Amino acid sequence: MSESSFDHLAVAAADDAPEQLADLRAQCPVQHSDAHEGFWALFDYESVGMAARETATFSSASGVTIPAHAFPMALPPIEADAPLHMQVRGPLLPRLSPKVMEDLEDDLRAMVRGLIDEFIESGSADLAKDLTIPFPGMSIGKLMNVPDDDIVMLRDITAHLMQNSDDMGFIMQAMGFFQKLYEDRLANPGEDLPSAILALEIDGTQVTNEEYLAIIAMVMMAGLDTTANAAGSMFRMIGANPEVREALIADPAKIPQAVEEFLRVATPLHASGRTTTEAVEVGGCPVPAGDRVLLNWLAANHDPAEFDSPETLDIERFPNRHYAFGTGPHRCLGIHLARLQLKLLAEEVLARLPDFEVDEAQVERYVGVTRGLASLPVSFTPGSTSA
Ligand code: HEM
Repeated sequence: MSESSFDHLAVAAADDAPEQLADLRAQCPVQHSDAHEGFWALFDYESVGMAARETATFSSASGVTIPAHAFPMALPPIEADAPLHMQVRGPLLPRLSPKVMEDLEDDLRAMVRGLIDEFIESGSADLAKDLTIPFPGMSIGKLMNVPDDDIVMLRDITAHLMQNSDDMGFIMQAMGFFQKLYEDRLANPGEDLPSAILALEIDGTQVTNEEYLAIIAMVMMAGLDTTANAAGSMFRMIGANPEVREALIADPAKIPQAVEEFLRVATPLHASGRTTTEAVEVGGCPVPAGDRVLLNWLAANHDPAEFDSPETLDIERFPNRHYAFGTGPHRCLGIHLARLQLKLLAEEVLARLPDFEVDEAQVERYVGVTRGLASLPVSFTPGSTSA
């Protein structure tokens, strides 16, 4: 066993996080850290995957963030174990299926085009602030089947919350909006996500208003900075790798496979927490019952035991069994939406501003539970609007 003061949040904020994690993994793949009141950090692909799959031993019910988040309640489905976990997750799966995404594709593409229209004629933009940060909130608005005015409002609230996650005024505004949706869908149920959430049954009883609010807030929050940061990192990697850019412009059909590699390399949600329900041995280390454990997805995604030359960006990599969306029963519920969003963003940007150049000196890292970019200034040959 090795003792350290490893702080995943500080490491994730650095550009060379994968290299720092590789050094730590090489010292010992399972380490105890005294940071954030103490936790066990898992750095290797095998241990991280095992802990994610063994949900009876590695529980999510006491929270999946280290340190704990500020919400006064656990947020299902992510912060729930069996049987509650599947009572919430199961009925939501059809609302986030590949078929639903197929039906949304044209609308989401129009949103990306509209955002690009706002800066395409100027020859410069901030691809984070002007595109990747506003887009996820708008997409979720579409998924919730709310009117266009509400989509604009959700875009503004969520973009602000991504930069100021504890602004209570904006959190209350978002909750007020979800409460309005609750009352509306109670009176007029539809085929959309809010209707599916309020029809959920927990142990045979329909969710309470409070449970509905926790679940809808969780699902929305899970889809914001994750996607924004994945997309920001993707554009920065494309900007830094001319051969990747050329290959994707020459053959846009390669974009979905490339997206998986961008996700592996960047791993925007870099780590999740669990709590042991019994004493267990991980990678030869005895971990007592009731201890916090950190599954470092980013370290696992750069483990040479699973990925050849993990620091090489290889858009043809196959297989690519990365953990950017987690693994096991809690694997990302929004995976099909996230993949669609990233594909559309890459397709539209490469088609309309193919020669964008990143102003590396002005790039700002995102500071939060996820890793990515708060600012990605670019310049390019001006184009014309799509209308
Ligand atoms: C690139 C974007 C995304 C990334 C990298 C990502 C990553 C992840 C990861 C790693 C987990 C597992 C966490 C754990 O096991 O503790 C997860 C779970 C989850 N994600 Fe995502 N996510 C993304 C987008 C989305 C979107 C767009 C939504 C919804 C609209 C979403 C909703 C969820 C939910 C509800 C869970 C919990 C699932 C469960 O506990 O059964 N995610 N995500």
